[in-house]
Amino acid sequence: MPVTLHKVFDLHHQYGNLVRLYVGPMLLVMVAHPDDVRHILLTSKLVDRGTIVTNLLRPFAGVGLINIDARRWKLHRKLINPTFHSELLEGYLEAFHDGGLFVSERLARARGAATDVHPPVLSAAIHNFCSTIIGMNHDLIPDGMAGEELSAAVNDGLSTVQVMNLLVAGTETVSVTVGYALTLLALHPEWQDAAHQELKDVFGEGDDYLRAPSLADLGRLRVLESIIKETLRLFPTVPILPRVATEDLWLSGGSPASVLVPKGALLFVMPFLTHRLPQFFPDPQRFDPSRFLEDRVGKEHTCSYLPFGLGARNCVGYQYSRLELKVYLADILRRFRFLPCSRREDLENCALSLSLNPIKPIRVSCMPLGGPST
Ligand code: HEM
Repeated sequence: MPVTLHKVFDLHHQYGNLVRLYVGPMLLVMVAHPDDVRHILLTSKLVDRGTIVTNLLRPFAGVGLINIDARRWKLHRKLINPTFHSELLEGYLEAFHDGGLFVSERLARARGAATDVHPPVLSAAIHNFCSTIIGMNHDLIPDGMAGEELSAAVNDGLSTVQVMNLLVAGTETVSVTVGYALTLLALHPEWQDAAHQELKDVFGEGDDYLRAPSLADLGRLRVLESIIKETLRLFPTVPILPRVATEDLWLSGGSPASVLVPKGALLFVMPFLTHRLPQFFPDPQRFDPSRFLEDRVGKEHTCSYLPFGLGARNCVGYQYSRLELKVYLADILRRFRFLPCSRREDLENCALSLSLNPIKPIRVSCMPLGGPST
């Protein structure tokens, strides 16, 4: 009985921007409106995710930054921040490019058959996690090792040094996002054409076309950037931001009257609800990356878009994953055209857990575009 996206949309449709539920004796409040998001994440600076979340994650992700208790969290966050310093990120580009090539090589093997892109992207993201964040030498990973074997070996190793938690946060999210982005592009060929055209403009059409992307190249990929942002608007891969109300709070759901949420309640901020409010994103169900191409002056709310969270406990890997996603997609899209094998309804049919999980694997067909390395 997974809790699905549909179920939550139904509750939102029926009850509005604040929904009260009881889980046993515990009061749980679902939050959608950006005024309340601001109040919870920025004004009140709530950082405690609660024992339920800590305990749910513990069996498969150990204890780490995501689910550490609020008391110890500040010190751990301070210690981990330098790993993601923006000056280090440029040094990760080459590794991300190797990841993009690995995925492209795996996709080419499918020879146009319907393919789930999630497994090869997850393998690439795990490789990249090891070579960048852990600083593990590539040569330590035997060439012929199967993806599943590698995942199991990495799991064993990392759980012993307690970074398992970071690995779960940093690899599944990226691979699910790449799967959604490529499927949305397959379903919207006009945006796929726009991305291909931009890649030609930036990388040229000669022998150099398939080169490793530099930071300057990536900065020029504005269409691709907008495609990633729009993908994360519709499908923010971390679907729930849990917070314990450590004080009484007045929330409004965007209406003039406020209601009291008592201290101790568990708040679920749900970005996919916020991202589909029509007053902030007109025609919200439509995949339309141009929302992020145009300058949206004053219309939007500062807290209406939060795929990486907001405030002190936002995503520590925000810059890292933006770069990784862009390199993977730039590498893959220069080598393939994608045709749809799943429908938009299949994308919406997903379960809520640590990340969004499509209930049926989403598939695309990858047609090589020709050229030396495809
Ligand atoms: C598409 C990619 C990603 C998305 C959409 C994403 C999203 C998020 C969100 C929304 C949060 C905040 C949750 C909350 O407020 O309760 C978060 C936290 C976190 N993310 Fe990410 N993330 C991504 C990639 C990554 C990567 C690549 C890493 C690390 C390599 C990472 C590590 C973390 C960690 C450790 C936290 C917990 C931070 C804390 O509690 O202080 N994430 N992520």
